[in-house]
Amino acid sequence: MVEQTLQAFRGTLVDFVDDPQALGERACRCFDDGLLVVRDGRVAEIGPAAELLARLPPQTAITDYRGRLILPGFVDTHIHYAQTDMIGSYGEQLLAWLENYTFPTERAFEDPQHAREVAGFFIDELLRNGTTTAMVFATVHRQSVDAVFEAAAARDLCLVAGKVMMDRNCPESLRDTPASSYEDSSALIERWHGRGRLRYAVTPRFAPTSSEAQLQMAARLLDEHPGVFFQSHVAENPQEVRWVAELFPWSRSYLDVYDRFHLLRERAVFAHCIHLDAHDRGRLAASGAAASFCATSNLFLGSGLFDPQSAAEAGVRVGIGTDVGAGTSFSMLRTLDESYKVAQMGGHRLSPLRAFYLATLGGARSLYLDDTVGNFEPGKVADFVVLDPAATPLLERRLARTPALADRLFLFMTLGDDRAVAATHVAGRARHVRGALL
Ligand code: GUN
Ligand code: ZN
Repeated sequence: MVEQTLQAFRGTLVDFVDDPQALGERACRCFDDGLLVVRDGRVAEIGPAAELLARLPPQTAITDYRGRLILPGFVDTHIHYAQTDMIGSYGEQLLAWLENYTFPTERAFEDPQHAREVAGFFIDELLRNGTTTAMVFATVHRQSVDAVFEAAAARDLCLVAGKVMMDRNCPESLRDTPASSYEDSSALIERWHGRGRLRYAVTPRFAPTSSEAQLQMAARLLDEHPGVFFQSHVAENPQEVRWVAELFPWSRSYLDVYDRFHLLRERAVFAHCIHLDAHDRGRLAASGAAASFCATSNLFLGSGLFDPQSAAEAGVRVGIGTDVGAGTSFSMLRTLDESYKVAQMGGHRLSPLRAFYLATLGGARSLYLDDTVGNFEPGKVADFVVLDPAATPLLERRLARTPALADRLFLFMTLGDDRAVAATHVAGRARHVRGALL
């Protein structure tokens, strides 16, 4: 008989069973003094500690996180690992930023040694920030995908990633072709998709850098490999939107370009989705594709304000994306803080319950990974983050006067960052403990 490992984690457990937009507070579960029981890396059960402890075998290893919050690991639905070393590059909006900073930085990933070094740092940085699932852009180079998948596998992280497809309007040195991008992507799907917790995403950078022939190849890859993901960018910046209208004069809108190539579907994630109309939102919702709300990036590049309210009303799946390196933080807490402010600028309130739902179960639903991650339903992988109310003097002081859960969560997103992450567990195992990387 195979021996089973049983672990238990005691603390304040918080997760979501649905979208608070629809269900209100009932969407949120909280056990003040709770116990998360983990068997072989998966959630066995959660409930009040007193009740569950009485039933556990006496030799069960119990980790005491009392006084701290235990939440499902964060799901980052849009990030570029190769842009780690260009975060905080000054002065430009999207198109000049790509030319001046992004393309030169991504060129270096031709070197597999460089790719491995950055990928290792990147995955550790996700863990330091409590992120346990991420959808990631690599670069145009095949070996850049190998590097990030290898780094994720070494830490058992759930990662969706893909090779950038880009055959025009970029430097020659970063250009592939419809045929080579098809071959490279096919080989990477064979090698990585479904290996452990790794999944592949077909990844045309955005419409301006792909020919129609390449967008067709992207759809072919998806048709030939059911279950494979798709990621791209859409309607981020007004100048970009005008450019797409020139490049695809037959299109009704920017999103329509992807729609005509049958790229709007389940498991497709579109970053930004700022300059959309009601028809576009209807198409996203009907197709099952998701929008990634990348607040720090949108503010940093001056791109515009995503409208979470209209997206919710249209029934669009929405997740949160840090979008490093246009985004300015790996921290989903920092990103939620800016998401709240973006909603404010649009005259809406992003409630703390909905914000944390979007960063966990909402992200998992965007990626169609909610059968395995996103909350503490029994059978899901025990990925979780432990938040420390005493992380900074100000957070501690403010939380000491704030008893209600929603208000406490709001303070974590308003004042918190990587310092608030006491520990990150992947499949039950501690992969980051503040001050030490395991
Ligand atoms: N649009 C096309 N490529 C990119 C990118 O790398 N970052 C962002 N923010 N937008 C893009
Ligand atoms: Zn991006």
